[in-house]
Amino acid sequence: MGIKLRQNVLEILKTLQEKNIECDASELAKELKIDYIILMSAVNDLDKVKLGGFKEKSIDYLYLTDEGLNYLKKGLPSRQLINYLVKNKIKEISIAELKDKSELNDKSFYRAIQNLRHNKWIATSKATGENKVYIIADDFPTTELEIFLKTFEKKPFNDKSKLSKKEVELIGTLNKRNLIRREKRTQRLIFLTPEGKKIDVRKIEILKEFSKITSQMLTSGEWKNIDLKPFNVSISGPRIHAGKIHPLINIINEIREIFLSMGFTEIKGPIVESAFFNFDALFQPQDHPAREMQDTFYLNNPKQSKLPERERVEAVKATHENGGDCGSIGWGYDWSYDIAKKVVLRTHTTATTCRRLAQFYRENEKPPVKVFSIDKVFRNERLDHSHLAEFMQIEGIVIDENVTLCDLRGLLTEFYRKMGFPKIITRPSFFPYTEPSLEIAVYSEKFGEWLEMGGSGIFRPEVTYPWGIKDPTRVLAWGLGLERLAMLKYRRGDIRDLYRNPLKWLREVSY
Ligand code: PHE
Repeated sequence: MGIKLRQNVLEILKTLQEKNIECDASELAKELKIDYIILMSAVNDLDKVKLGGFKEKSIDYLYLTDEGLNYLKKGLPSRQLINYLVKNKIKEISIAELKDKSELNDKSFYRAIQNLRHNKWIATSKATGENKVYIIADDFPTTELEIFLKTFEKKPFNDKSKLSKKEVELIGTLNKRNLIRREKRTQRLIFLTPEGKKIDVRKIEILKEFSKITSQMLTSGEWKNIDLKPFNVSISGPRIHAGKIHPLINIINEIREIFLSMGFTEIKGPIVESAFFNFDALFQPQDHPAREMQDTFYLNNPKQSKLPERERVEAVKATHENGGDCGSIGWGYDWSYDIAKKVVLRTHTTATTCRRLAQFYRENEKPPVKVFSIDKVFRNERLDHSHLAEFMQIEGIVIDENVTLCDLRGLLTEFYRKMGFPKIITRPSFFPYTEPSLEIAVYSEKFGEWLEMGGSGIFRPEVTYPWGIKDPTRVLAWGLGLERLAMLKYRRGDIRDLYRNPLKWLREVSY
């Protein structure tokens, strides 16, 4: 039986026969001005009749780095120096002055000097007491490296063809100077089989395939004579990646739902916070290491924040200096207004719950008050798979009479249970603002270990007294990591993925 092909498949077959080489699929699609998908479906047709096909190959492409691109425009450092000397008719110059005049950094400059000497274009000497450069050549022909660099002007260089020894060497040089980078790409090569190469295209019948029968075809009876394109009913349809809520927003919504269902109200506080609410009102001494620049982001603008009502500030000052009226002896140092007025990006949302204590005082509220916050905090941290400099905390307080550590534990256990983590452990811990303090860890099935989730405790009298909160009214408080919990929930090993947004994961993740 003779072979039948659709018109466009036949055209592609002809082109491939004329070219008589394997062709890069995307380049061929561009050349023929057809859609890549249409080309590949034609290749698929050729494959079915064993005339052609495609194979995949991974190829290294070389691109210029930003620095490389810069030199492509301005010339390599050695060329820049020579151009400067020639243009200004300078035959000798001190190295220091030449360095000053060049726009090069130390490393590139000295390497350029070395290369120029190596080319015997310049000599250097300290004979006059000063380290000087002398021009010793008459002309400065384009170097092999410069010629090679120019090949990047048009398109990325690809490594697929056999490289000459020289090219390998030049690539090595560019690589050493960080002027190029490699990128892997998969290339599809279209080929003809031996039959495809020798088949006489004139003998191929043109297939007029229809994928639809129209009402005209039915009434005219033409449908009996046409080739109907068979439907492949076993193939799956294209995958549709519908828009969805981001995993981080999703977990925030879930957490919010849980606290609301437990009778809490959500509160918000400023991101740009005073040191007063971020540290002082939480009884964190003014020389506490957490306040240092390497841990905390301070703002220059605004330079200072306003402190709250004078007599409350005095009460906080007194707790630091001598314990005030709460029965403590305080830290025993002179408290500074200026340090308290500093402006920070809040390092924890405990600043926000602390502001809620101030509101409780001002509005002369009665317990119970149950509030939570889910918000951003900032710390000057080195980023890695488990640390971010900008992250979120799940914070909350309960102001009520006679509440105890048992209530706190119960609350946190219930929260994690509702989040799907029934195994939690609490251990004694320390925070300047709580006593007793508990650290909370959740058991991760994936990592097979206890992961620390955050801190909690009962606010110390030093924190609550300035806002008129006294025994038997107590404040249970906690601050938990959100991204850590998200990592556990979504089983991701790298916390940065939550913000880096790997598309593959975002598409797959389901809730
Ligand atoms: N603020 C603490 C932190 O950022 C957590 C905490 C909040 C601890 C409330 C005790 C009470 O780690």
